[in-house]
Amino acid sequence: MSDLAPSSTTLNASVQKVNELNSNQADHRGTPVLSASNLSKTFNEGKNHVTILHGLELSVEAGEFVSIVGSSGSGKSTLLHLLGGLDLPTTGEVRVRGELLSSMNETKRGEVRNRSLGFVYQFHHLLPEFDAIENVTMPLLFRREMSVDDARERAIDLLKRVGLGHRLDHKPGELSGGERQRVALARALVTRPAVVLADEPTGNLDRKTASDILVLLGELRRDLGMALLVVTHDETLAGAADRVMHMQDGRWLG
Ligand SMILES: Nc1ncnc2c1ncn2[C@@H]1O[C@H](COP(=O)(O)OP(=O)(O)OP(=O)(O)O)[C@@H](O)[C@H]1O
Ligand SMILES: [Mg+2]
Repeated sequence: MSDLAPSSTTLNASVQKVNELNSNQADHRGTPVLSASNLSKTFNEGKNHVTILHGLELSVEAGEFVSIVGSSGSGKSTLLHLLGGLDLPTTGEVRVRGELLSSMNETKRGEVRNRSLGFVYQFHHLLPEFDAIENVTMPLLFRREMSVDDARERAIDLLKRVGLGHRLDHKPGELSGGERQRVALARALVTRPAVVLADEPTGNLDRKTASDILVLLGELRRDLGMALLVVTHDETLAGAADRVMHMQDGRWLG
C-alpha cells in the first residue's frame, strides 16, 4: 500500500463530510439540469453495426450527485460523450437545462458545453504546449466575461484546491498522470458549471488525494449547486453519491 494512503478513519471522515454537505443540497432539488431519453448509440464499421447503448433514460437534478458504475466496455464513456454533446446519439435526445443539445450544430453544442457543462475526460486531453494555469484559464477566456487577470486568479485558486499550487507553470508533459488528472478536473470546474461530467476523475490518484478531491467536489456542490455525474470504479467515490446507476452491456441494471 502507498504510504500516502490514509487510514480508513480519514476516508470515513471524508465520506461523512460529503454526506453533511449533501444534506445541504435540498434547496437545489427539483429541476433536471441534465436528461436523456431513449438514448442509443450504434457504431458503423463497414458492414458491421455495433450497438453500444440501448434506449437509455436518465435524469439528473440540480445539485445531485449520481455515479455510474459498470464493467469495462459496458458503454459508460460512450454515454458521457453523448451527454456532454461530444458525440451525437443514433436515437433519442439529450437536454441540458431543458435545451435540446442533441439537435444543435457543433458550434451551438460547444457554447452550451462552455456555459453549463464541465467535462473531465477519461484521458485528460490537456493542451500540451500550455502550462497548468493556461490550460485551466482557457474555458474562462472563451466566455469573454472576465479579464485575463481575474481568470488566472480563479484558475490558480482552483489549482491550489486540487493540491497543485507547486506545479502551476508546469506543462502536461512535466506532470504525473494524477497531476494531469487534477489539472483536467480544475479545468472542468473553473467555469462553475451547472453539471460536471467526469469519467474516472480519481482513476490515477492515491486514496488521500482522491478523498481530498471528493471533499472539494462536495464543497463546490454546496457552494454552487453543481450537479455531478461521475463514472467510477472507486467504491468510496461511488458510495458518496446520492444515487448509483449500474450499467451492463449498454443498459441500466435494476
Ligand atoms: N468509435 C467507436 N467505434 C466502434 N466501437 C466503439 C467506439 N467507441 C467505443 N466503442 C466500443 O463501445 C464499447 C463501450 O466503450 P466505452 O468506452 O463506452 O466503455 P466503458 O464502459 O467506458 O469502458 P472502460 O471502463 O474500459 O472505460 C467498447 O466495446 C468499445 O470498443
Ligand atoms: Mg470508459
